Amino acid sequence: MLLLRTCPDCKHNLNCGCPSGTVVRKGRGSGFLRDTEAMERFFDRLYSKELPMPVSVKSRLGFADPAEWPAILAVYNKYPLTELIVHARVREDGYGGTPNMEAFAYAYENSRAPLCYNGDIRSVADVRRIEEHFPKLRAVMIGRGAVTDPGIFRELATGVRMTAKELREFHDDLYRSYVSMWGVKDTLFKMKEIWGYLGNRYPDADKAKKAIHKCRSEGEYLTAAGELLRIEI
Ligand SMILES: Cc1cc2nc3c(=O)[nH]c(=O)nc-3n(C[C@H](O)[C@H](O)[C@H](O)COP(=O)(O)O)c2cc1C
Repeated sequence: MLLLRTCPDCKHNLNCGCPSGTVVRKGRGSGFLRDTEAMERFFDRLYSKELPMPVSVKSRLGFADPAEWPAILAVYNKYPLTELIVHARVREDGYGGTPNMEAFAYAYENSRAPLCYNGDIRSVADVRRIEEHFPKLRAVMIGRGAVTDPGIFRELATGVRMTAKELREFHDDLYRSYVSMWGVKDTLFKMKEIWGYLGNRYPDADKAKKAIHKCRSEGEYLTAAGELLRIEI
């Protein structure tokens, strides 16, 4: 997953956002959020000695219900986190539904740590809207939107959109690097996953997208992907 991080100091990040069952079952990721007393004990231990490095946290709003968020934020506010990245969903949302902007606004008003917004940013217009609503925000993080549009970072910086030719070159570089690292079979598996996001650029090309997901050889893959990558958006 591609991430945009704008805080150069935050090299050590505690991920309290991961919703995966295997992670949550061990009380890690967003599973950590179920017990605010345990969170406090953990952070007390972490900060009991002078920490040699800055620590940031990435968090969801809660485990099952955004009503959990004020108590969770109160824990974070007790410690000098260098940044708080908020994925504005609870664990039970997975990656679906829509981010809870009301709960994020609560973080904006009450977070002691500099704040980074995360959740469903798909375009430059989405970033501008967030910046307008939350002008003192430290950063935004872009996940799936950056896989759908790998040009989003340049467009944010310069206003210049990625062309179909540039996307094709990016794709071809990525494909060749993957093949050199993992061989064709594993690369096709990874590329199919990437097309799960990249394919959103081509809402009217279901046939070619299906062909990518069904392909079994490099030739089949490159033909189907090439068909989509020719389309100028
Ligand atoms: C397939 C997938 C893998 C992810 N892996 C990570 C990860 O390793 N570390 C992390 O902090 N977040 C990870 N995330 C979460 C994203 O960083 C991000 O918080 C989430 O996708 C919401 O942002 P978005 O709506 O911009 O995608 C992952 C998300 C997805 C969909």
